[in-house]
Amino acid sequence: MTIEDQELYRELLAQIKADWQSLPDKPEETPETTLKTLWFLAYGLPRAIGCQTLGELPLLSEAEESALREYVSRRLEGIPLAHLTERQCFMELEFLASEAALIPRRETELLGYAALEKLYGLVEARGGVKVVDLCTGAGNLALALAHYEQNCVVYGCDLSAEAVALAEANAEYLQMMDMVQFLVGDLFAPLDAAGIGPVDLVTCNPPYISSGNLEKMPEEISAHEPQLAFDGGPFGVSLIMRLIKEAPEYLKPASWLCFEVGLGQGEAMLRRIQNNANYQTVESITNPAGAIRAILTQTR
Ligand SMILES: C[S@@+](CC[C@H](N)C(=O)[O-])C[C@H]1O[C@@H](n2cnc3c(N)ncnc32)[C@H](O)[C@@H]1O
Repeated sequence: MTIEDQELYRELLAQIKADWQSLPDKPEETPETTLKTLWFLAYGLPRAIGCQTLGELPLLSEAEESALREYVSRRLEGIPLAHLTERQCFMELEFLASEAALIPRRETELLGYAALEKLYGLVEARGGVKVVDLCTGAGNLALALAHYEQNCVVYGCDLSAEAVALAEANAEYLQMMDMVQFLVGDLFAPLDAAGIGPVDLVTCNPPYISSGNLEKMPEEISAHEPQLAFDGGPFGVSLIMRLIKEAPEYLKPASWLCFEVGLGQGEAMLRRIQNNANYQTVESITNPAGAIRAILTQTR
């Protein structure tokens, strides 16, 4: 008989299913994956969903069983799973997660893998290249790019010193301290301050929720993740508009700016780029439902 057939598993799965609130931006979390993840956590093995196959559930001691019941209650109270495990998977790498920064989302992998393709092309054409990930949060995009393409120097910048501290902890966790440097400051300002010259690739997952919609966000998000990670100003696109305007000054010719957009923002941002003489081409990346979620544009 496997653990899944046993009373404790069936009881807790039924409890989770009864009170389950799914979030569209965490599609990897289901009642089953949640229970399995919490089960391993209670056993002393914190793991992020998706990074490694979880394997057979282990038998729990009495103390571990009560820890599991406590984790299930806290999850059903709305504590994010990634905050219980202190882990989140992004582009198949496991990152540390905490209240200091946004929990990396699956949807941002669209931007990550599209930017990685551009990075591979740039390295092939130019040899070593310089990359900056703005609004780096936990450092997930910066570290994933540096992990998958090592012929580059990567900087990650964020206005939040707490987020940068978590990004640095992630660099240590992934043993990539010498591959990515993290800096604190407003958008491109850290590059000026550190005297970092023009770069070949800029990535950014900016805050893009309109200020008025912030209070409509599910409590699991608004109560546990920093508001700075979401607030995109009155129309949601304040940071994106600055990014489009300011990036050409920091990018070499024929270099790429790649960024995420919120649902419904893509078309207007594409038009904005098409009307900006500093860019020569623009591409969009859509999600499986056909909505634009990332934009990639090349300087002249
Ligand atoms: C949506 S989160 C993205 C986090 C991470 N890059 C990811 O994709 O998971 C946006 C990040 O932008 C940062 N941020 C907000 N305003 C900023 C600004 N003016 N300059 C730099 N970073 C900013 C926030 O602190 C937050 O970490």
